[in-house]
Amino acid sequence: LPKLGILGSGSGSNCQSIYDAIQSGSLRAEIAVVMSDNPDAYILERARSWGIPAEVIDCGGFKTRFPEESQASVAARLKQYGVDCVCLAGFMRLVKLPLLKEFPSRILNIHPSLLPAFPGLHAWEQAVNAGAAESGCTVHYVDDGMDTGPILGQARVPVLPGDTPESLHARIQEQEHTLYPAMIARVLETLA
Ligand code: GAR
Repeated sequence: LPKLGILGSGSGSNCQSIYDAIQSGSLRAEIAVVMSDNPDAYILERARSWGIPAEVIDCGGFKTRFPEESQASVAARLKQYGVDCVCLAGFMRLVKLPLLKEFPSRILNIHPSLLPAFPGLHAWEQAVNAGAAESGCTVHYVDDGMDTGPILGQARVPVLPGDTPESLHARIQEQEHTLYPAMIARVLETLA
């Protein structure tokens, strides 16, 4: 089975949806390791509860930077686990060359907007503030930019009257949880 390495910084609901898709047989893969830059992230708890290795990424005390040395050591760790495809799932640091070069066209991300609209942080809040009529989520290959890599697939949701950033995010996340496992399955077929 192809091996996934999942990187996240937060609750890990997308990681959960990947795990559930594997359990239900709709995604033929295994999660080899879950890594987080946030030692308190619930995504690590989830991994431990599944008996999957959960590792903390040492970012040298930097709040938002992802230092080159950290990226190189993450790449080495992922290689040790035999990871074929890296899935960013709510990972809040920018991946650059030291990691990218070790997994060419094998790092995916999910972003909570219809890219190229609203890249960056709090995309759901950006959509509400901009008065957008619709938003959604995008799965894309990761490149050197911020949320700029080639797009694999998108799912759309309406922005409803009275939506708050939180209510829109919840609607987007529902779509994320089916889109991401489906796009991962598609990418793994191309690697096979
Ligand atoms: C998801 O909505 C994901 O699209 C977003 O963070 C959330 C993580 O939720 N990612 C970004 O904003 C990346 N810039 P989760 O931890 O429950 O999967």
